[in-house]
Amino acid sequence: MSMTERRGLFITFEGLDGSGKSTQMDLLARRLAAEGHPALVTVEPGGTRIGAQIRRILLDAENHALAHTAELLLYFASRAQNVEETILPALCRNEIVICDRFTDSTLAYQSFGRGLGEPVVAALHRIACGDLTPDLTVFLDIDLETSLRRARDRNRNLDAASAGQTRMDEQSAAFYERVRDGYLTLARREPGRFRPIDGRGDIERIASRIWQAVEPAVSGIHA
Ligand code: ADP
Ligand code: TYD
Repeated sequence: MSMTERRGLFITFEGLDGSGKSTQMDLLARRLAAEGHPALVTVEPGGTRIGAQIRRILLDAENHALAHTAELLLYFASRAQNVEETILPALCRNEIVICDRFTDSTLAYQSFGRGLGEPVVAALHRIACGDLTPDLTVFLDIDLETSLRRARDRNRNLDAASAGQTRMDEQSAAFYERVRDGYLTLARREPGRFRPIDGRGDIERIASRIWQAVEPAVSGIHA
């Protein structure tokens, strides 16, 4: 199955932790279903049974020793599995796929955040995903303070078994500042694909801004 044969619509959601991606993806999927366009919803890292195992290694707070290069390769391992097993087959069936994070996350967190070279990420993307690029990327922008506050509140609301810090929660504020600046740079670089949306304020209002950004692409797909 060639990547170039794919049709469908590939929408990704990006943003800092707690930017509202899961909340808004859920609302978008419901809206799409109500309009007669059911979508496949998936997540990175994770999304497949094997990807979920990789995700556990990546987020395990005990894995302080995880080397930056190993981390990078694990994100792409999860993604390669998801692309081959789930995303590409759905796109080839002309479906809509919505993915929580994709290679822009790796550029923002590993390249801009950790300082790993963008050419390395681009080369790994080529190996893991071929020429698969999102058609549309919803970038939910929030400030750092909002991100930290929401992540804290969310952890507090989780039950005892799933509560607690993940490995990524331990990063410094400076790291997340670089990640956010990275996202802003990526958005400026590809204004046609990136739809930056203010992720603060009323949930329904954000959802309607996202719908305005997505709807024109959806009308085209089954034409
Ligand atoms: P992400 O998937 O980007 O980490 P979530 O959708 O899980 O973000 O949201 C993180 C937390 O913030 C959740 O507790 C969620 O209920 C809350 N939240 C999401 N959107 C908003 C919003 N617009 N205003 C206030 N709280 C929000
Ligand atoms: P997740 O729970 O999916 O994110 P969120 O907190 O936004 O709901 O956790 C994934 C974490 O992994 C998040 O901190 C971002 C990070 N990440 C990377 O560093 N690189 C990547 O390529 C991806 C996909 C995620």
